[in-house]
Amino acid sequence: AEIGIVIPAAGQGKRMGAGFNKQFLLLRGQPILVHTVRLFEESSYVSEIVIVGAESDLLVIKELVYHHKFLKVVAIIQGGAQRQDSVRTGVQALSSTIQRVVVHDGARPLLTLQAFHRFLEETEEFSAAIMGIQLKDTIKRVDLSGKVLETPPREGLRAVQTPQIFDRGILEEAHHQAEKVGYYGTDDAALLEWMGYPVQMVEGSQENIKVTTPDDLWLAERILAMREA
Ligand code: CTP
Ligand code: MG
Repeated sequence: AEIGIVIPAAGQGKRMGAGFNKQFLLLRGQPILVHTVRLFEESSYVSEIVIVGAESDLLVIKELVYHHKFLKVVAIIQGGAQRQDSVRTGVQALSSTIQRVVVHDGARPLLTLQAFHRFLEETEEFSAAIMGIQLKDTIKRVDLSGKVLETPPREGLRAVQTPQIFDRGILEEAHHQAEKVGYYGTDDAALLEWMGYPVQMVEGSQENIKVTTPDDLWLAERILAMREA
């Protein structure tokens, strides 16, 4: 089956504090976003890639795509205020022949081809599936004053990553309904859960970090150096 990729990359990178979109920061000499796009460009399962960027970043993204000859990139479009707005717009830019969509954060440059292909195999039979990992820390629910309310059993919790894969129809429907009532979730799967659709969790990878704060940049650099050694 032909898969379309939507890469939300329209954030501001506030927590990174670089003063510009963190996805242009270099890892091993290449922008984070270039690492992310290259993975999908190199996957034989992928036929189209849509990159969603902030208005002020669109030109730079176009230049990077041209320079690196990422031929699968069919559209580079302007994102919205929230990640959800960016993904919704991005999905609309895929060709009508694409019936299976993977959403992957531009800021997760460490996904490997091997991990991505394993994800595709493990999720083939599900209309919606996501990657997540076991937690290392105990998680507690607290109220606004910091008072501890409860400690949910760790076995039943996952830290969620991307990629997330969806049958296009239900992803678009969920985004459409959410937009209509102004519902916002922190990932795309949350919109399907909100609609009552089943979502399958599969095992992710510890290395598939989202580059969010300066220490993540250091860690990402170390992981890439290790892989090259
Ligand atoms: N994203 C997006 N559109 C937005 C907000 C975020 O496409 N309006 C993208 C980011 O570019 C990133 C991914 O969603 O690839 C995950 O978001 P996050 O890690 O939070 O990135 P930023 O929003 O850029 O960072 P911050 O929250 O620290 O400002
Ligand atoms: Mg953000």
